[in-house]
Amino acid sequence: MRLDKFLAETGLGSRKEVKQLIKKGQITVNQQIEKKDKAQVDPEKDQIAYLGEALHYQEFYYYLLHKPAGVVSATEDKKDSTVLNLFDEADYRRDLFPVGRLDKDTEGLLLITNDGQLAHELLSPKKHVEKEYFALIEGVMDETDQQRFEKGIELDGQLTMPAQLLIDQIAEERSEVRIILNEGKFHQVKRMVAACGKKVVYLKRIRMGDLSLPEDLSKGRYRELTPEELRLLKG
Ligand code: URA
Repeated sequence: MRLDKFLAETGLGSRKEVKQLIKKGQITVNQQIEKKDKAQVDPEKDQIAYLGEALHYQEFYYYLLHKPAGVVSATEDKKDSTVLNLFDEADYRRDLFPVGRLDKDTEGLLLITNDGQLAHELLSPKKHVEKEYFALIEGVMDETDQQRFEKGIELDGQLTMPAQLLIDQIAEERSEVRIILNEGKFHQVKRMVAACGKKVVYLKRIRMGDLSLPEDLSKGRYRELTPEELRLLKG
């Protein structure tokens, strides 16, 4: 990789700014001043430093966000705030994107990364990565609904994959349920519940694969995945 690209990727500055630092002799590669911005470096092997301070290159970033309602799962939007607007300037990178979508009014676990390969794997229906939702439903969900979820429900002329409906509590014509899907069709939870003649009034994703929404991560906050969480996610 070119030295100026490496420096820009570490967040030291823009490509133009880091070229100036190189020119000024402030960058060393293996303890030798390097004044060529085109110099080739190996981020795995070479020790690269700015004014004597070692720089580390990280290719991929993985964040776990507790999405609040009211923001959209997109990188840019003309009208609404996006999940990336919740990022501090120091963590924001232009290549970050959300893995899949949650509706604007849905809360909960959303992974934000710049690792396209992992995102692809997590979203592929073939990989069967479970997504678990907590939902508050207007209406009483029952065993018949559970059987319908298990068989798959027809949406847009196509049967969904079998899904699980766990009924946690029923009170005053409202049901608290958990729904586990292996895929992510547009508005899938809301449409499957609607197909049973009931309505989702609150929806929150609480798990993706082996990764659960941490209880201590408040709404609107995010943090980097721990190495253990990343391992769980990669399976
Ligand atoms: N299903 C929905 O209906 N909405 C979401 O945001 C996620 C799953």
